[in-house]
Amino acid sequence: MSTRKPLIAANWKMYKTPAQANDFVTAFLPLVHSHTRDEIVLCPPFVDIATVVAAAQGSNVRVGGQNMYWKEEGAFTGEISAPMLVAAGCTHVVLGHSERRQFFGETDETVNKRLHAALKHKLIPIVCVGELLAQRESGKTADVLLRQTAEALTGIAPEHAGSIAIAYEPVWAIGTGKTATPEMAAEAHHIIREQVVRSLGREIADKMRILYGGSVKPENASALMNQEEIDGALVGGASLDPHSFSKIVLY
Ligand code: 13P
Repeated sequence: MSTRKPLIAANWKMYKTPAQANDFVTAFLPLVHSHTRDEIVLCPPFVDIATVVAAAQGSNVRVGGQNMYWKEEGAFTGEISAPMLVAAGCTHVVLGHSERRQFFGETDETVNKRLHAALKHKLIPIVCVGELLAQRESGKTADVLLRQTAEALTGIAPEHAGSIAIAYEPVWAIGTGKTATPEMAAEAHHIIREQVVRSLGREIADKMRILYGGSVKPENASALMNQEEIDGALVGGASLDPHSFSKIVLY
């Protein structure tokens, strides 16, 4: 049995107004009340963070950003910094999500800059990696995962890396209803962990949580979570409903 505490995070993407976010938390908290086996995190759009933090105060539910810029402040219209997330009550932040890479020009290099900034400000980073369908079909999955993981971790000192979580999200499984089989996910997680060993050493790698994301649903959560290599889930669509997300948390 691994000693890694599972982390189950909701990535709401661009869904929910503050009122809808408040309704979610009100319905969700009683469903996961006193659940301590897993770390539970909600990552709402930025405009909902204050509402979710206030509604979840004193509970076992933490709040994270979906992205952040690496500078602390400045003339960067439309951006949000790590100190701002912390001041708003966030404890976690998602970095390098494939939608940021695909639609908003993020690269391994900018993910790395964000990771340095998140760690400096004591946010728990959830760094996303994952291959495209064409990369899987042409046998490049391992190369992509090794490169994305190594580049994200460039220049990070092992003594600062203890809180990092990595989310393996195969791009072809996001929002498609296609899930990697538990065995496929476990194999990818093993590849990622071996790169973490090379980047940060065995001790950190053994402690690092590697989450799976991509069409996680109440029906497949326990099969995925029962894999020794899978230390949590990053959930999109099925996290928008409090009942469905609570079933995943309670897998
Ligand atoms: P879905 O759960 O909707 O496939 O999204 C996964 C994801 O991108 C979570 O970050």
